[in-house]
Amino acid sequence: MSQTAPVSLLRQHMQEAVEVIQRTTALQPRIGIILGTGLGELAERIEQECAIPYENIPHFPISTVESHKGRLIFGHLRNRPVVAMQGRFHYYEGYTMQQITFPVRVLYALGVRTLLVSNAAGGLNPLFRRGDLMLIVDHINLMGDNPLIGPNDESLGPRFPDMSEPYSQRLIALAEELALELRLKVYKGVYVAVAGPNLETRAEYRFLRLIGADAVGMSTVPEVLVARHMGMEVFGLSIITDECFPEALQPLSLEQVLEAARTAEPKMTSLISELVARLPE
Ligand code: HPA
Repeated sequence: MSQTAPVSLLRQHMQEAVEVIQRTTALQPRIGIILGTGLGELAERIEQECAIPYENIPHFPISTVESHKGRLIFGHLRNRPVVAMQGRFHYYEGYTMQQITFPVRVLYALGVRTLLVSNAAGGLNPLFRRGDLMLIVDHINLMGDNPLIGPNDESLGPRFPDMSEPYSQRLIALAEELALELRLKVYKGVYVAVAGPNLETRAEYRFLRLIGADAVGMSTVPEVLVARHMGMEVFGLSIITDECFPEALQPLSLEQVLEAARTAEPKMTSLISELVARLPE
């Protein structure tokens, strides 16, 4: 009798997506990048070989947010092959955690082993100002859900994945060095993920600060959990788009978030490009 485990539905879906992508490109990047809200510009720095709209990839969800384009971009950044997700999926859009993280599974199946994730986040640490950069050193999952719930495919990763180092210490140290060279000010901190879509009340911001978070956002954690489940190395970067200080809270619009992201984007773009250039093979 055969000893091979049955192929899970997830693996089958990953394979179907990979087949379609590999019909379009022969590039096999080991580096994947997720571009967050208002951070699509890095895509312009990539010497594009091809861009595949999400709707052409089997089992990919389709983006509903205006500010997210929804394409998988293959090309070279500083001469290194990369694949970038221009546009990501959010829990508040109504997708399941499995849908949100499916693209990360596909990146892994394509050969990606290092994942660079960016996002826009609210600053809880009183030292942070709009437009600052924060290297994510750890996270708190307050989304009330988890993409790893359900049957576990042992061929992808363990039932109880370790989270002692969700964000690679090695990449954080490298990014700090590069930030110094580039004369960019960067903070380090803990990212807390909430489901959204509403922004937080003053009491909630106070609570999030109290439990140890430096920045709050509505993404990233699901993708990182799935990436770590499969053993990918992860680097995370937040752009602080607003100051969430409970005693001095101002109303916030999406336009302000996008504006702050646009202002800080060149800093993020240089840091990520330099990181890609210096990543060990
Ligand atoms: N809260 C949650 N998500 C966010 C915020 C915030 O204040 N700013 C940008 N993304």
